[in-house]
Amino acid sequence: MHKSHPWIAGFLLALSLGFALPAAAAEEGGLAPSNANLADTGSLQNGAKLFMNYCSGCHSLQLMRYSRIAEDLDLSEDQVMNNLNFTGVNFGERIPPSMNSVDGKTWFGAAPPDLSLMARAKGVDYVFNYLKSFYLDASRPVGWNNTVFPNASMPNPLWELQGVQTAKFKAAEGSEPAQFEGFEVHRAGTLKPEEFDKVARDIANFLQYAAEPAAMQRKSIGIWVLLFLATFTLLAYFLKQEYWKDVH
Ligand code: HEC
Repeated sequence: MHKSHPWIAGFLLALSLGFALPAAAAEEGGLAPSNANLADTGSLQNGAKLFMNYCSGCHSLQLMRYSRIAEDLDLSEDQVMNNLNFTGVNFGERIPPSMNSVDGKTWFGAAPPDLSLMARAKGVDYVFNYLKSFYLDASRPVGWNNTVFPNASMPNPLWELQGVQTAKFKAAEGSEPAQFEGFEVHRAGTLKPEEFDKVARDIANFLQYAAEPAAMQRKSIGIWVLLFLATFTLLAYFLKQEYWKDVH
């Protein structure tokens, strides 16, 4: 009486593909996967704290409001206003730049961009890898360079945590450009490498959230849609059994 049901198999296949495809896409482009997870509220809260402490001095988040962060990241108004708001603007306001872009341009040669949409434009893995790839380079105006974004005008904001690294390159030969071979520790930071990975991941995760706050809602709606589909499939299956049981 147990026939195989191709549509059940099809349904399961579609489900597993749905989970497998994004993971496969993340490994494109030679960037290490960040494994940033929007469902991890602790990671987003930590990322918000790190962003406000280490990035917001130069970068604004003009499309994000303090109140929205509180709502989405399960934080109270007091927590946000006391621990995350260093700019003194109201709870309902957008997160402003602390430094105006003209200053940024004269200090660094490039104005620090607004980061609201950065993780969507460049990818969450890009941000993660970028934060891990600063190295000392005396030939650059700010003394830092970056293998993910060569000649970036941004100094490493996290050097105390990460430590200071230098980069080893294989010398250029003929038409072959110099090739990056790896980093070397110049001076250890206050964090172990895997602890620093978490710092970079949480900041990237927070920027991924900030770039598309609605994605969090969409994911939780998605789970209900899948549950609905699964329940409905079962119901349809039993209904079919019921209809056909006297026919055989
Ligand atoms: C001292 C000022 C300063 C701080 C602090 C700072 N940045 Fe930047 N950032 C810059 C500048 C200047 C640029 C523009 C670099 C360029 O275009 O050469 C930049 C660019 C960027 C970019 C764009 C890179 C690209 O590919 O275009 C990202 C992403 C970024 N910063 C993330 C961060 C994060 C995350 C933090 C906190 C951990 C941070 N920044 C802290 C000054 C800063």
